[in-house]
Amino acid sequence: NHAIPHDRSLDNSIALMREGYHFMQNRVNKYHSTIFAARLLGEKVICMTGKEAAEIFYDTNRFKRKGATPKRIQKTLFGENAIQLMDGLAHTHRKKLFMSLMTPKHQAELAALTKTHWEMARKNWEESKQVILFDEAKLVLCRTACKWAGVPLKETEVKERAEDFNAMIDAFGAVGPRHWKGRRARTRAEHWIQSMIEDVRANKIEVQKGTAMYEMAFYKDEIGQPLSSLIAAIELINVLRPIVAISTFITFAALALHNYPICKEKLFESDDAYLDMFVQEVRRFYPFAPILGARVKNNFIWNNCNFEEGTLVLLDVYGINHDPTLWDKPNDFHPERFKQWKGNLFDFIPQGGGAPETGHRCPGEGITIEVIKASVQFLVHHITYQVPTQNLHIPMNRMPTFPESGFIIENVKEKTSIR
Ligand code: HEM
Repeated sequence: NHAIPHDRSLDNSIALMREGYHFMQNRVNKYHSTIFAARLLGEKVICMTGKEAAEIFYDTNRFKRKGATPKRIQKTLFGENAIQLMDGLAHTHRKKLFMSLMTPKHQAELAALTKTHWEMARKNWEESKQVILFDEAKLVLCRTACKWAGVPLKETEVKERAEDFNAMIDAFGAVGPRHWKGRRARTRAEHWIQSMIEDVRANKIEVQKGTAMYEMAFYKDEIGQPLSSLIAAIELINVLRPIVAISTFITFAALALHNYPICKEKLFESDDAYLDMFVQEVRRFYPFAPILGARVKNNFIWNNCNFEEGTLVLLDVYGINHDPTLWDKPNDFHPERFKQWKGNLFDFIPQGGGAPETGHRCPGEGITIEVIKASVQFLVHHITYQVPTQNLHIPMNRMPTFPESGFIIENVKEKTSIR
C-alpha cells in the first residue's frame, strides 16, 4: 500500500483519545489525502473520509461487521453478539424486526409520549430554581422509552435505570472508570431486561402485541428459532438505550436555541419545514457518533489502495458531516442549508449511511428526529426560561461529548398561551 500516506506513529490509540472527534480530519489535512493507513488499537487500519468512501464502506460485498467492534465496546455500548456485529441474511432478517418497530406510526406515538413526559417533568421544576436539561432529558426519555416499549418501570427506579442507559453510552470512547461504569451498567440492565423477557414468555407479565418488548420476546430468526432470553434482552436494550441517547441531541438543540436566537425566533414563527431543517442541522453540526468500523470481506483495490481481506477500515462520520467539499461553510450553524440537500444516503451520516434495510444504518433516525422535534417544540412553545452564565464548552477530545454544564436553565415557567 505505497500509494496512500502512512501515519508512522507506533500506535495512534492515545492520539485518538487526545484528539477525539478531530483525529481523522487532522490527518486528512496533514497528508492532503482522504485515505491513509495507521496503527490503531493494536493493528493496522485504513482510515477514510468523504462521500465516496462512505459508499464503499456500506457496500456489503466489500465489508462485513463480524470482528469489527472491539470487545470493550460490545461490553458497554452494544452488547455482545448483537445486531451491530451481524452480516448477511441473519442481519437483514433481524433488521426487519427493528424497522417494524420504528414506522411513522411508532414515531408519532413516541413523540406524543415525549411531550406528555416533558409536561409532567415541568410541573416538578417549578419548585427548583435551576434544572440541568441534559439530566432531565435522560429521565424524560427513560420513562418515555419504557412506556412505549411495554417495559414496566416504577417511578422509584427511573433515575437508576436512566443513569445505567446513559453510562453504557458514555463509555464508548473511554478507558478507566468511565469504561468500568458502563460495563457494570450493562450487566445490571441485562439482568433486569432478561428477567422481564422470561416473565413475558412465561405469561407472568402482560404486554401488548406490537410493542418492542413483545416483539423481541417472540421474534423468530431466519431459521425459525427464538432468540435466547439474553440476546432478546440485549436487542431490547438496543431500542431503549438509544432513545435515552437522544437526550444528547436535545441538549445540543437547546444550546443552538441559546447561541442562535434568530433560529429560536424563526421556530417560534414558522411552520414545520423550518423545524425539520433545524433538527437536521443539529444532527449534522454537533458531535455524537465519531467513527465507524468494518472489516474487508474480500480483497479489492479502490483509490489505488489495496484493501486486504480482514483489514479494519474506519469511516470518519463526524468529518463527513463537516466536509467542506460537501457542505458550504460546514462550521456555521445554518438550518436553511437543508433546503438544498437532496437526501443523499452518503453525505449526511450522523446515524450511519446507506439504506437501513440492507445495511447497518441506524433504524432509529425517524424516531430520533420526531423526539427531538417534540422536545424543541416544548422548549420553544410551552415554556419560558433563562440561561444563566455557565460552562457551555463542548470538549472535542471526549467521546461522547456534550456541553460541560449539561445546559442549565432557570426560572422555568409555563407559557400562558400555548400554540
Ligand atoms: C445503529 C447513531 C438513535 C437503534 C446506529 C449507528 C449509528 C447510530 C452511528 C451505526 C451505523 C452503522 O453501523 O453503520 C445513532 C444516534 C442516535 C441514534 C446518534 C441518536 C441518539 C437510535 C434510536 C434507535 C437506534 C432512537 C432505536 C430506537 C439503532 C440500532 C442500530 C443502530 C438497533 C444497529 C443497526 C444495525 O446494526 O443494523 N445508530 N442512533 N438508534 N441504531 Fe442508532
